[in-house]
Amino acid sequence: MALTGVPVREALDSALVALRAAGVDTPRLDAEVLLAHALGIDRTRLVLEADRPVEGAAVHAFREAVRRRAAEREPVAYITGTRGFRHLDLQVDPRVLIPRPETETLVEAALELPHGARVHDLGTGSGAIALALKHERPDLVVSASDACPGAVTVARANARRLGLDVEVHLAHWLDGLGLELDALVCNPPYVADGDRATLAPEITRHEPAAALFAGPDGLDAYRAIAPLAPAWAAFEVGDGQAAAVAGLLAAAGLTRGEVRRDLAGIERVVVAWRS
Ligand SMILES: C[S@@+](CC[C@H](N)C(=O)[O-])C[C@H]1O[C@@H](n2cnc3c(N)ncnc32)[C@H](O)[C@@H]1O
Repeated sequence: MALTGVPVREALDSALVALRAAGVDTPRLDAEVLLAHALGIDRTRLVLEADRPVEGAAVHAFREAVRRRAAEREPVAYITGTRGFRHLDLQVDPRVLIPRPETETLVEAALELPHGARVHDLGTGSGAIALALKHERPDLVVSASDACPGAVTVARANARRLGLDVEVHLAHWLDGLGLELDALVCNPPYVADGDRATLAPEITRHEPAAALFAGPDGLDAYRAIAPLAPAWAAFEVGDGQAAAVAGLLAAAGLTRGEVRRDLAGIERVVVAWRS
């Protein structure tokens, strides 16, 4: 793209052509987010500034961002380094899964916990679930952990930057943490190993495999964590996994429960508690 001095409108059009040709799903949205990021302005201002020339450092930044998005199919959130989740802007990079909108269903379930409950976010990644919970329910005692040192670094940095009091531990599941908990929330890896080919290149090439894959049927993580559940647990599940996960929780003594659907109508969260 030869961009220097071209107006915002034309810069967007040429990016659109490149992103479409690369097979990107949402080329206009992505072009707008990347140009707004390169210019250091809010995306909504692009319309008002359609005739503004793209100049200086923004030219290289936008060209490089579009190249990464098109040629490498890198997710927009890794290029801009941020992702919105609930009411928070989280910093993300390839050490962590990009938080998904459907995970908000899990947060909504946990928002119903009683005052002062001690809740742990297992496999916290960027810290999305734990930090959103602490932000919206400051009365909860929220902790988090992840087995990936890079994720722990990212989650701790997000907690510090957002001023949220969430302790983030490095651990294989709850091993060695000795926490006294009332509730466990978890969005574990749940993709069956054999489903790798069905995932978009944005996911398989860029997101951490440890955040995605969980054995031949995608249930290995649930088998490991269901027995760790305290009195109440809420787990995000993949499409079609709710019954199996509810069964694992029931076998661990959490015999009462319900399944919550996400905005797409998919059974997305299994909530279970001891009777
Ligand atoms: C699907 S990602 C969820 C990340 C984040 N909670 C979210 O919803 O955006 C699963 C997370 O579990 C972590 N994980 C995988 N195996 C683990 C284990 N044995 N112990 C602790 N965390 C683990 C991964 O590193 C990853 O951050």
